[in-house]
Amino acid sequence: MIVRMAKHGTESLVPLIEIRDATVFRGSTRVFHHFTLNLEQGCNTAILGPNGAGKTTLLKILTRELYPVVRDGSSVQILGDKRSDIWSLRSQLGIVSSDLQYEYADAARGIEVVLSGFYASVGVWGHQGFTDDQTRRAEAILRELAMDSMANRTYGSLSTGQQRRLLLGRALVNDPPSLLLDEPTTGLDLTATFQYLETMRQLMSDGRTLVLVTHHIHEIPPEIRRVVLLKDGEIFADGDKEAVLTGQNLSALYEQPIQLVQKQSWYQAIPG
Ligand SMILES: Nc1ncnc2c1ncn2[C@@H]1O[C@H](COP(=O)(O)OP(=O)(O)OP(=O)(O)O)[C@@H](O)[C@H]1O
Ligand SMILES: [Mg+2]
Repeated sequence: MIVRMAKHGTESLVPLIEIRDATVFRGSTRVFHHFTLNLEQGCNTAILGPNGAGKTTLLKILTRELYPVVRDGSSVQILGDKRSDIWSLRSQLGIVSSDLQYEYADAARGIEVVLSGFYASVGVWGHQGFTDDQTRRAEAILRELAMDSMANRTYGSLSTGQQRRLLLGRALVNDPPSLLLDEPTTGLDLTATFQYLETMRQLMSDGRTLVLVTHHIHEIPPEIRRVVLLKDGEIFADGDKEAVLTGQNLSALYEQPIQLVQKQSWYQAIPG
């Protein structure tokens, strides 16, 4: 079990996010228009879609890095709260993304990477004090993730997989009930991928909610119940994994013949 400070029940949970009729731009690109989606806490969800479909944009709405255009009838509610209290939000949503991996400060030591989760910063700075409790918690997380030997190594000197595990530790330091993972296994070898998948499964069985964005069908763990397919900023299909993950749906989503193979609650896509 990954170190928990409190067990999060799933009873009477407010939705993770409720997006109503939102229009969202990135630069001059209109990614979403009249977009509506709810994600529930307690329901592990995978989001799939071609490059440019809007997956990362959706996660950035969740983390309040992006806001919809203000319009009557349009709203985004995160964890039941219309206020943009970014700090309390960050303690409730842990995030790991490739963007973060590239932006992260090379000089930070392993333990500092994990500690930086308390401030949601990319590195630690002189003015950021850490309590003994916080340091102990960061050390416990490093141990749990089998990363204790990396505590004093600089981030820039680590492999992609090691960096990704540290960033997971950073996301876990606040003991968030929900985690958003944007292509968490990109660039990882098979061993590191399977290790990461095992950790993801452990997090879900400990009661955390995962929202997973991935291109790899074979990396959708059995615990994921809901799948949302996005295409060109619209919901292409959404529902129970078994209903949504079909060769027919994926062939239409990616506009090429795809077959799905299923084994022991895992899936694999092959050319159709
Ligand atoms: N900073 C930006 N400025 C302008 N347009 C952007 C910016 N970032 C993303 N976009 C555009 O927004 C759209 C959605 O991008 P987004 O990153 O959400 O896609 P994605 O589904 O995460 O794709 P991928 O699978 O490649 O990660 C794309 O058309 C993209 O070109
Ligand atoms: Mg993306």
